[in-house]
Amino acid sequence: MLDLLIHNAALPDGRQNMSVAVQAGRIVEVSEGLMAPAAEVVDAGGLLLSTPFVDAHFHMDATLSLGLPRLNQSGTLLEGIALWGELKPHLTFDALVDRALAYCDWAVANGLLAIRSHVDTSDPSMLAVEALLAVKKKVAPYIDLQLVAFPQDGVLRSKGGVDNLKKALSLGVDVVGGIPHFERTMADGAASVKLLCELAAEQGKLVDMHCDESDDPLSRHVETLAYEANRLGLHGRVTGSHLTSMHSMDNYYVSKLLPLMAEAQLSVVSNPLINITLQGRHDTYPKRRGMTRVPEIMAAGMTVAFGQDCCMDPWYSMGSGDMLEVASMGLHVAQMTSQSAMQQCFDAVTKNPARILHLQGYGLEAGCNANLVLLQAQNPVEALRLKATRLKVWRRGVLVAQTPPRTAALSLAGRPPQTSFLHTK
Ligand code: FE2
Repeated sequence: MLDLLIHNAALPDGRQNMSVAVQAGRIVEVSEGLMAPAAEVVDAGGLLLSTPFVDAHFHMDATLSLGLPRLNQSGTLLEGIALWGELKPHLTFDALVDRALAYCDWAVANGLLAIRSHVDTSDPSMLAVEALLAVKKKVAPYIDLQLVAFPQDGVLRSKGGVDNLKKALSLGVDVVGGIPHFERTMADGAASVKLLCELAAEQGKLVDMHCDESDDPLSRHVETLAYEANRLGLHGRVTGSHLTSMHSMDNYYVSKLLPLMAEAQLSVVSNPLINITLQGRHDTYPKRRGMTRVPEIMAAGMTVAFGQDCCMDPWYSMGSGDMLEVASMGLHVAQMTSQSAMQQCFDAVTKNPARILHLQGYGLEAGCNANLVLLQAQNPVEALRLKATRLKVWRRGVLVAQTPPRTAALSLAGRPPQTSFLHTK
């Protein structure tokens, strides 16, 4: 007998009336109309059953710290970094863990079951690193948390930056991070990229750098990142996060850059909520959107994810761990409004970030982990439109969160007694 059978589900690829059979935490069969004895049988009612959401870019050491010790007045990236610097001396292990765990509760409720979080390695005490390593262990039963050693103050710019980052890696942090545009000069930025990619190659680590998070069209560290990935044979192992300067770059230069990035099989994480609010702050009108060239990077064959980046922290007062909100913002800002482009936006918060994290066992086929989300929507486009309610969330076949359907009762003469906002043809 099966542990769980979910039937009458729509899948993200458009298949209808599908059944997913689960045994011992894994999917054992996905087929149309399958009915079999199971300890628990769930009728999906024709609604969308998806693999979980994945966030490829987050800062769990800063999350839910909004207002500590004060609010960001200018709304800029640089004031956010300064504000984080003011908060750091007051951080405690327990407070960091408590806030991260509270955020993870929201994540699970939203069907977000894998997160790549950067963790600031600038503090030689490794307080934030130790706290997030403890969180990683604690949430492992329900969230795959991957940590990136992130030298927020610049690996070359800050005293002891390289040693601190290496220390974080030796403690068990998974991925090598960087922030070349925050180093003091373009040359230092390029040197930091080279150094960090060499370190990753030596240690067999993945790379994910904050790269060119700027409106400056001449911030071209992504070129060095792709070059180093090629040189060191790190194909498919290097991610450029943000890449906002690409929004402002000269088109001719980009026509040369994209093939270099594609050759390196660079992955890209765009963070639409944050890019649309932090970038363009020096502009009057027109104000640049400051999001990287997502459709063009996808068309060049690279894997692109939308990340959340921030939730109630020195950089961003909003957010709730809702990756459909993130993807919806990306869709709007990039004008990805065709049916296929909207589907790509859904992929950008599900299977694309899973690929970027090198997540094992992610997928909707036999043999994959039974990590599943039932959404109150009929297809991915409707899920994006409604920021659909996560009716049920399963981890390894076990129900870990559920939310009642969103339904409004109506009292209108001659109209139905309720609506759930679903589109019925
Ligand atoms: Fe970030």
